Amino acid sequence: MSTLTVELDERSYPIFIESNLFTQPNALTAHIKSKKVVIISNEVVAPLYLDVIDNALAGFNVSHIILPDGEQHKNLQSFEVVISKLLSMSASRDTTLIALGGGVIGDLTGFVAACYQRGMPFIQIPTTLLSQVDSSVGGKTAVNHPLGKNMIGAFYQPKAVLIDISSLSTLPAREFSAGMAEVIKYGVIYDYNFFVWLEENQQAIKQQDTAALSYMIKRCCEIKAEIVAIDERESGLRAILNLGHTFGHAIEAEQGYGNWLHGEAVSTGIVLASAVATKKDWLNASEFSRIESLLQAFDLPTLAPSDMTYDDFIQHMRHDKKVFDGQLFFVIPKGIGKAVVTNDITDEILHTVLS
Ligand code: NAD
Ligand code: GLY
Repeated sequence: MSTLTVELDERSYPIFIESNLFTQPNALTAHIKSKKVVIISNEVVAPLYLDVIDNALAGFNVSHIILPDGEQHKNLQSFEVVISKLLSMSASRDTTLIALGGGVIGDLTGFVAACYQRGMPFIQIPTTLLSQVDSSVGGKTAVNHPLGKNMIGAFYQPKAVLIDISSLSTLPAREFSAGMAEVIKYGVIYDYNFFVWLEENQQAIKQQDTAALSYMIKRCCEIKAEIVAIDERESGLRAILNLGHTFGHAIEAEQGYGNWLHGEAVSTGIVLASAVATKKDWLNASEFSRIESLLQAFDLPTLAPSDMTYDDFIQHMRHDKKVFDGQLFFVIPKGIGKAVVTNDITDEILHTVLS
């Protein structure tokens, strides 16, 4: 088993990565300090993995809250449903919540955990590639608002993250690809050698070779843990993790949440940010093409929706969390393996790239 730690003083927590982790009860129970546990999952994941988690929790007082599936349910209505159910179950501030599912369940559960009675412990059990390499680590929790994605939320760290690689075997191929956008992101922003490793190991990754997936997920979690330990609340470095997200969130909002998967929108966003980088001579044509090709190799989109205009992008991006003093900041690659956060992008460059 690989074990990493997110180093945040008294809020530090472990990330466990292994195949068949769900069948090892101690991995989970060691992090639960309460008798009462509430598992939050959805109608797709619960039939697949709820039983095995329930079995691991023999001896605890376990309840379930099962939500409808989909990004469109990551909203204040679902938040209220969960809070009401917790109240009707007489959950208390020391009850442990378990998020069993992808990033939607993880973000929503984390936000509930941050708010219910001003904070209760929660554990992340991510079951999509995207949530295993990104959303379950780092304590960003949120729900969407019709005017913008993740607009209502909190920084709130879990007590532990349990990643069972074998749960990816049931994940639809399109969702696996979406997760690869966030994986490739780490190579582009932080680790050139990892980018090369991804280029060289495409086949093993696509075949879901256990050793390849273990290494890949571990490297992503290592990078994320390192960045979060330096800048938990995104006052600087952490913003680079949002490569592709400013453009991507605009695509998601314009198309209606759930139509483009988050990872698909991020993939196109990475290409748009890379195109901006070429205009500033921060990426050469060959580097641009390697980024685009790697995303395409995992069946990810690299072109914005054909009906989406420059004005559509700008309208959505005005609500981005990277607007400071009315100025919009972008994460832009500087070579492969490094990225910067900048507002020094002319309207002319944006026009050329987005038109
Ligand atoms: P998701 O949670 O919607 O899961 C994708 C689909 O896969 C869903 O239909 C889900 O039910 C299904 N599923 C999950 N696990 C499965 C499994 N093992 N087998 C079969 N089906 C399975 O989407 P996601 O891509 O995991 O997460 C996207 C969300 O994560 C977005 O809301 C995004 O904003 C958020 N996010 C958050 C952070 C963060 O730092 N908190 C980072 C990146 C993304
Ligand atoms: N997914 C971006 C972050 O966690 O900061």
